[in-house]
Amino acid sequence: MKTPAFQHLLVTGGCGFIGANFIRHLLDETDFAGRVINVDKLTYAANPLSLAAVAEKFPERYVFVRADIADRAALARVFDDYAVDAVCHFAAESHVDRSIVRPDDFIQTNILGTYTLLQLARERLPRIKRFHHVSTDEVFGSLGATGFFTETTPYSPNSPYSASKAASDHLVRAFHETYRLPVTVSNCSNNYGPLQFPEKLIPLMILNALEGQPLPVYGDGRNVRDWLFVTDHCTAVWRILCDGADGATYNVGGRNEMENLAVVNAICALVDELAAPLPGGKSRRDLITFVKDRPGHDRRYAIDCAKIERELGWRPAKSFATGLRRTVQWYLDNAAWVRQVRSGDYQRWIAAHYGA
Ligand code: NAD
Ligand code: TYD
Repeated sequence: MKTPAFQHLLVTGGCGFIGANFIRHLLDETDFAGRVINVDKLTYAANPLSLAAVAEKFPERYVFVRADIADRAALARVFDDYAVDAVCHFAAESHVDRSIVRPDDFIQTNILGTYTLLQLARERLPRIKRFHHVSTDEVFGSLGATGFFTETTPYSPNSPYSASKAASDHLVRAFHETYRLPVTVSNCSNNYGPLQFPEKLIPLMILNALEGQPLPVYGDGRNVRDWLFVTDHCTAVWRILCDGADGATYNVGGRNEMENLAVVNAICALVDELAAPLPGGKSRRDLITFVKDRPGHDRRYAIDCAKIERELGWRPAKSFATGLRRTVQWYLDNAAWVRQVRSGDYQRWIAAHYGA
């Protein structure tokens, strides 16, 4: 891998699930010697506890700034105060169900926030050496029983979330074509692992199973997702930041398609094995409850990640069986983290620590 051409990396959304795993990976596991500036608004999905150890261990190389990426003046100060020369953009509203109920924040953050960052970056050319935009395979829409998404699959987003991500991908591409901003884009499949907010399928099912609560499976439970362990996504993003071609997009996936019901059954078996038994010795599988389907629910996602494998030599390292066991164990071992993100006091805690 090439030595990165930058030293002052702005990471947006670093207190969220993937961003926090990425910052931990970057500082702990790579030879990057520069500084990370984490800008996060601290929405409901963030948990600053995820980076408490990093902040303590790397006081010179890790900076946190609480700000909204759509706040142009605040972000301009960050770019200049910290001599930012590269951006890795994770910040987003990320949950499909929330986007169905109330799309406003998705349009504001995912589209206008990304546009604000792009403008600030292009005004600072040639200082900006890389602008990496983290996106999703959901921009491609839904597959039938066969086939895979490639980098040339036409966009066909079906939810307000995926439409807002598609819009931001197009803006990123346009800033490369029009202003020669050195952008890269990754479109990744569903991530799972430690530090994920428990509204997404896997952590929600783990915690509900642990607590003996119903496990709500949408529709017939036969929708297919391609699951990737989060640190495998992080290694892909780091490779692209260092070695990706300007203007290129890369699909990232786990070659691990599974029906939702199979995922939930696997979680039930692991929680039965690793946690205290339910009263009466009931199996967690008995908690599975089929509920009304999500409107516009995409049937199947599957990623062809041959390009990043071929051009950048990236491969996922974790099998689903190992990754899922590790994830279940992490949620069992980190009750304080879980209490924090689920607590009604969370916004008050943030205000006390970081200002309103
Ligand atoms: P997340 O919801 O866990 O975290 C998002 C983070 O962004 C939070 O810390 C939040 O506070 C922050 N944020 C939100 N709005 C902001 C704003 N206006 N200004 C500054 N910070 C703001 O999301 P995630 O799962 O970590 O996803 C990160 C990125 O990866 C997103 O762009 C998402 O679209 C993409 N992605 C996610 C998945 C997945 O399976 N989770 C898969 C592919 C791509
Ligand atoms: P989710 O984790 O929300 O990710 P995405 O919608 O971005 O793929 O959902 C993954 C799959 O699990 C999706 O097909 C919807 C389904 N699902 C349920 O069946 N029940 C649930 O409670 C949730 C949150 C998701």
